[in-house]
Amino acid sequence: MQGLNRIGVLTSGGDAPGMNACLRAIVRTGIFYGREVVGIEDGYDGLIKGNMVPMSLRSVGNIIQRGGTILGSSRSEEFMTKAGRKTAHEKMEAWNLSSLIVLGGDGTLAGAAELSKEFSINTIGVPCTIDNDIVGTDFSIGFDTALNTAVEAIDKIRDTADSHDRVFMIEVMGRNTGHIALETALAAGAEYAIIPEAPFDPKPLVAKITAGIDRGKSGSIVVVAEKDTPGWVFEIAKIVKAKIKRDVRSAILGHLQRGGSPSVVDRNLASRLGAKAVELIVANKNRVMVGVRSNQMVEVDFKDVIGKREHADLEKLKLIDILSM
Ligand code: F6P
Repeated sequence: MQGLNRIGVLTSGGDAPGMNACLRAIVRTGIFYGREVVGIEDGYDGLIKGNMVPMSLRSVGNIIQRGGTILGSSRSEEFMTKAGRKTAHEKMEAWNLSSLIVLGGDGTLAGAAELSKEFSINTIGVPCTIDNDIVGTDFSIGFDTALNTAVEAIDKIRDTADSHDRVFMIEVMGRNTGHIALETALAAGAEYAIIPEAPFDPKPLVAKITAGIDRGKSGSIVVVAEKDTPGWVFEIAKIVKAKIKRDVRSAILGHLQRGGSPSVVDRNLASRLGAKAVELIVANKNRVMVGVRSNQMVEVDFKDVIGKREHADLEKLKLIDILSM
């Protein structure tokens, strides 16, 4: 067994559509470059337990179209501790793994950075989160699919909003940033978006809905980012209901946004980023995230990514307002 030629790969944090396509690219590109690839089950929890499985060309067959992650994922509390990472490193040594590719969001990248600081492990990160809030890349894997899922759902709700002259408040994911809410609102032709980047003020929201009703609008759609309190939409709906003469209903899209078959955009992004991650391992790079900038593959130092957050573009709120007059 050639330790230096063995790459470990894991998926961690919230699953994102496209993780499997990325895993497929990592395994096949790794084998192309003469490496062995070992899959680690259930994220960092599985690394601590030593739950590993050698991957082959065939073990990643027929997964490019599948949502979720065939490796499983977790949000590991134990890996946040030094003792947890020490155990994980012991398991890596036992498997002769000297490099690790991690697929996930900011927390996942932070874990990889710590591991490679404490032990002699080369780590490469691949941005995977439907939230699209990772610095250093234009897009993270899963975002496009989540948007398509949310927009399809809102299009359906709009049928009822129009038929019954109702205002619908629809909560989408995005606990720290409003990327999903903004892009979804724009694409669905929503009247208003409420995002964590802008303080919530009921006055302009009520004014917008009222102006629409006065102009003869039947239904109205308001997209609300969940922030750190899923279910927040009900409070907003209550406030609005008290101020307007229309029926106000709410819906929470929740985890349906995380699942499903990845879009073409996500499959191809995942394939490119996965292949690039292996190329960085082959080039002996360490503590680097792969990303996409203006459709070109890029590499970004972990230190320029971790602990930061890419915020949504507030200008788009204005555009949503103008286009939904
Ligand atoms: O980070 C991705 C995300 O889907 C967020 O949008 C959401 O707030 C969170 O994960 C939900 O996480 P969990 O599935 O662990 O409740």
